[in-house]
Amino acid sequence: MSVDISEILAFLPCETPQRWVEAALAHPEEMLIDHANCEKKAAGTALNLMFRYVDKPDLLSRMSKLAREELRHFEQVMAIMKKRGIEYRHLSSSRYANGLRVDARTSEPHKLIDILIIGALIEARSCERFARIAPLLDSELSKFYTSLLKSESRHFKDYLNLAVRYADEDIAPRIALFKKKEQELIESEDEIFRFHSGPLAA
Ligand SMILES: [Fe+2]
Ligand SMILES: [Fe+2]
Repeated sequence: MSVDISEILAFLPCETPQRWVEAALAHPEEMLIDHANCEKKAAGTALNLMFRYVDKPDLLSRMSKLAREELRHFEQVMAIMKKRGIEYRHLSSSRYANGLRVDARTSEPHKLIDILIIGALIEARSCERFARIAPLLDSELSKFYTSLLKSESRHFKDYLNLAVRYADEDIAPRIALFKKKEQELIESEDEIFRFHSGPLAA
């Protein structure tokens, strides 16, 4: 199955560094556990938006569908972990999502727009990383990660379309700001390996 992710690559500020790929292959258990966490957090983000913005029907229906898909992905990762005898243990969060959210504005309507732009970046990066490592994994994981590309690329668009729809401003400068921050988080050295970490410090 091939999925065209050219739009995602064009949206992201940079490619995942090769050293992150090497760390992912060296930490297969952490990658799966943190991937499970990412799916859970993605569902949680969508649900939070649904509680906060009950007056936006388009957001409610898109986020409800997205949350269901993320929980389904979570169940799929759990099933693979179980099959492989990987114990679900607590892993601390990476710096990535909080590092992006630091710059989000705190008053409406701008708070929502920034959270949606950040959501688009996180989904796009997840998609790029699935595509990048899928060919290097065993056939079961490779197939699974490839199967995720389609929904994650749709999620990226959902977030971006909602940001455009609810904005009362040109969002290009906000996108540019978060892209710059995202590039720093993706390219600068990180202390711990996680699904969205930077390359590990040598
Ligand atoms: Fe997902
Ligand atoms: Fe997603």
